[in-house]
Amino acid sequence: MIIRLWQSSDLDELRRITIEGFEGIAIDQNVEKKFGVLAGHDWRDRKGRHVDDDVAANPDGVFVAELEGQVVGYISTRLDRELKKGRIPNLAVDKRAQGRGLGRQLIEYALDYFRREGMAFAMIETMVNNPVGQHLYPSCGFVEVGRQIHYAARL
Ligand SMILES: CC(C)(COP(=O)(O)OP(=O)(O)OC[C@H]1O[C@@H](n2cnc3c(N)ncnc32)[C@H](O)[C@@H]1OP(=O)(O)O)[C@@H](O)C(=O)NCCC(=O)NCCS
Repeated sequence: MIIRLWQSSDLDELRRITIEGFEGIAIDQNVEKKFGVLAGHDWRDRKGRHVDDDVAANPDGVFVAELEGQVVGYISTRLDRELKKGRIPNLAVDKRAQGRGLGRQLIEYALDYFRREGMAFAMIETMVNNPVGQHLYPSCGFVEVGRQIHYAARL
């Protein structure tokens, strides 16, 4: 497995991995269950757009895992240089490649990137209905600091 910087030809695959991976745990999907499709964009479209947001926000900080020439996962990052805070907004591994340590290696790669960029601490979040995140992140050294509730309202 190699981890490398994303390139534009990866984007379709990254969107697919994101949409498949977040089925059942995406906030956008929960919103759609209660409110229906919003403005003609279903939750898959909305979640897939996170990949575009990530590469636009920090194009030097989206890293892709490649196994035998195939893109099988990625991690995205944000840097707050003033506060020296690194954040991981998105992480996903193709279902067929999960459970082999790729998610952990992507997190370690992102943490090394934060250190190289002079960050002093890192943040990541997970949904309460995502048991993998709640196992994986503490085992990568993260400590729980709070829980958040998401609300939505029709206007
Ligand atoms: C989260 C994700 C990236 C992890 O990728 P992965 O390559 O499978 O991760 P790893 O193989 O490195 O580690 C998975 C760990 O979770 C554990 N795990 C797997 N299923 C689990 C479950 N249902 N409950 C608790 N732990 C679980 C594994 O045992 C492993 O822990 P270990 O290394 O201590 O044995 C992947 O599951 C994924 O893409 N999920 C969908 C999207 C997602 O949830 N992204 C993160 C949002 S916060």
